[in-house]
Amino acid sequence: MPKKKIIKNHMPVKKISPTQTKAEREVVAEEKREKIRKGFQLLRGMKDILPSDQPAWQFLYKKAEELTGFYGFRRIETPILESSNLFKRSVGDVTDIVEKEMYTFNDPGGESVSLRPEATASVCRAYLEHGLINQPQPVKLCYWGPMFRHDRPQNGRYRQFHQWGAETIGEINPAVDAELILLAWLFFKEIGLKVNLQINSIGCPNCRPEYKKNLVAYYRRKKKHLCADCQRRLLKNPLRLLDCKEEGCQEAKAEAPQIIDWLCEECKNHFMKVLEYLDSMEIPYQLDNFLVRGLDYYTKTIFEFYPAAAAKEGEEATRQSALGGGGRYDGLLEILGGRPTPGGGFSLGIERIINEMRRQEVEPTVKKPPQIFLAQIGEQAKQKAFRLFEELRREKLPAGQMFGKDSLKAQLEIADKMGVKYVLILGQKEILEDTVLLRDMDGGVQETIGFDRAVAEVKKKLKS
Ligand code: HAM
Repeated sequence: MPKKKIIKNHMPVKKISPTQTKAEREVVAEEKREKIRKGFQLLRGMKDILPSDQPAWQFLYKKAEELTGFYGFRRIETPILESSNLFKRSVGDVTDIVEKEMYTFNDPGGESVSLRPEATASVCRAYLEHGLINQPQPVKLCYWGPMFRHDRPQNGRYRQFHQWGAETIGEINPAVDAELILLAWLFFKEIGLKVNLQINSIGCPNCRPEYKKNLVAYYRRKKKHLCADCQRRLLKNPLRLLDCKEEGCQEAKAEAPQIIDWLCEECKNHFMKVLEYLDSMEIPYQLDNFLVRGLDYYTKTIFEFYPAAAAKEGEEATRQSALGGGGRYDGLLEILGGRPTPGGGFSLGIERIINEMRRQEVEPTVKKPPQIFLAQIGEQAKQKAFRLFEELRREKLPAGQMFGKDSLKAQLEIADKMGVKYVLILGQKEILEDTVLLRDMDGGVQETIGFDRAVAEVKKKLKS
């Protein structure tokens, strides 16, 4: 057998000559480090959420939690990895998500698994698997977490992104659709984002087949203008043609038949009722007769939220992707092996919402920055400081500390950078006297107070 040639992965490294200065050597060393770092860079389409991003994330999370809590939704967590079949059956195997965007692979046991591209299918699977049908209906569930789609990375499109979602399972009443829309709409309103709501009904298995027949007949006449995907999907999944973003397909759509003209009595009444509820809650909406959404499980009401055209005067309208969407899925639980059980829900894309907040210059209302800093000098003081800091937290006082630092100078510099009004200082003397030093950072005045009175005194000072 011929010997395998071993190719060593040599990194071209500049030679260090004895005449090089320290600065030149540092440049070479940094080049070397950079080369190593490049081998571990963030994957395309993924995002780190840094400490400086946290105020916006926490702001949105809190608002979502507050709203879902008030409206009686309970939190559910489903795994990030699921059987690939779950998404093929529910989202539909002739959709962009399943055909092009899923992270699918065989696990070590040989089973085909996928990183979840969305959570509705998982929530419905969990509802069936854990017998939630035996609980009082409807079951209202909510979630917040990462989803994965191998989309083409571009502005607002990530390969890992987060959704906040809510699902109401087990109730057919159109008030459910209205409540879900209200919840999402309140979220946007209360965070201060201007959005447009677009809504449509895509009928049910009674009326949709007839509509599809007409749609296929229409598109057959336009076939040569359609993209390759749409030509292929024409017979298998004609509704997807209305969702295609390719220019030719968009133009071909202009005179396509509209589902609204084909809705059966039940779907029509259901849709009218949803719109009536929205009117009575004064939620503005636009009817979009070509809205179909990119997932196959929908029936009846579907909706999407888009950024309001111009956030600022004179600004161009952006046809950016949707900030969120949802709808009814009355057939999904049956597809997954359950008894006929209606359902509906929505999910909102958190990264896109944060981008849009920046565009519309919406500031998250953030947690109060620290107004007191607790400094300590010496081991005993550090131990006592831990206890005092916990007391400040219990009293909800906005406090900061840096227990990893020993020098008072370094701690005062940090306190100064934080912009706090007061610093509490615990040193050897204070430990012996069971006191604490309270320093006013504006005037530099210091006073000694009893350790037991420290929290009450700080509270009084901050109030005044
Ligand atoms: P979806 O429209 O596929 O619906 O996704 C909902 C939202 O997730 C989108 O409107 C968008 O804001 C965000 N999103 C989707 N893909 C990306 C991406 N690649 N990058 C960043 N954000 C993205 C669903 O997922 C359904 N499960 C909604 C639902 C819940 N229907 C009923 N219940």
